[in-house]
Amino acid sequence: MRSLHSEGAERGSAKSEREKRTVTGAAPEGASDKQSSARAIREMFTSIAPRYDLLNHVLSCNVDRLWWRRTARRFAHILCQPDAHVLDLCCGTGDMTFALQRQARKSSARILGVDFSHAMLQRAAKKFVGTALRWVEADALNLPFADGQFDLVTSAFGFRNLTDYDAGLREIVRMLRPGGECGILDFGEPRGLIGKIYRFYFRLVLPRVGTMISGVRGPYAYLPASVERFPEPAEMLARMKTAGFREVSWTPYTFGIAGVYWGRK
Ligand SMILES: C[S@@+](CC[C@H](N)C(=O)[O-])C[C@H]1O[C@@H](n2cnc3c(N)ncnc32)[C@H](O)[C@@H]1O
Repeated sequence: MRSLHSEGAERGSAKSEREKRTVTGAAPEGASDKQSSARAIREMFTSIAPRYDLLNHVLSCNVDRLWWRRTARRFAHILCQPDAHVLDLCCGTGDMTFALQRQARKSSARILGVDFSHAMLQRAAKKFVGTALRWVEADALNLPFADGQFDLVTSAFGFRNLTDYDAGLREIVRMLRPGGECGILDFGEPRGLIGKIYRFYFRLVLPRVGTMISGVRGPYAYLPASVERFPEPAEMLARMKTAGFREVSWTPYTFGIAGVYWGRK
């Protein structure tokens, strides 16, 4: 496992480092402000909802399942508590949410999945009908819950799409009870030979295959662009501290192709 704190200094050019430090949040091409960015993002996910699961598994060669499970395992100590209250943000079609439920086993943890795309939530509800999971349509930047209610807040491949990362982190901190934990699973940018292969795949192969299977142009070009823009681990950890987390860390998965940001309030 690589060290957390040297990441920012080692990767990328100084220029891109500087740019990443000033990035406020996701901004799809053509969107002029946060409101139009959020609208474009919601429409984009809604447009790919019917093929989202298939694409996810094909494009990640099913590694996504391992990442969701590994992330859920990390929070086993919370999920096994019978009264645990858990929020999975940007839950999409619910696979991370379900991985949390599986990890909770027979405990009666209350697990909620939140997303602002109705179409994604409809698929989640259909896929996991008969489970105790509950689904709420809401914006992760403006959640309809009172302060300090949750023991755990997670997000898998969703946080990167928020139009304001600092506001997103503050909202997570607001949701957590003191001592509560957060896990943000998202893509990273590996270095070395793996990084070169990954960039070739991510920038050239993935957008073409994604567009072909989904039949929608745009989302699969947005994906690599959004990962490139996303702050480096050291920068994200600093932002998490500023937002109010007392302890933070980053754990890379699969050579740093993905990783989990962990924080305790
Ligand atoms: C890449 S998908 C991830 C879905 C799921 N967590 C997974 O691991 O497959 C990102 C999801 O984030 C949702 N999303 C993006 N911005 C959001 C926001 N501000 N509030 C709520 N959901 C948001 C999108 O609608 C989409 O379903």
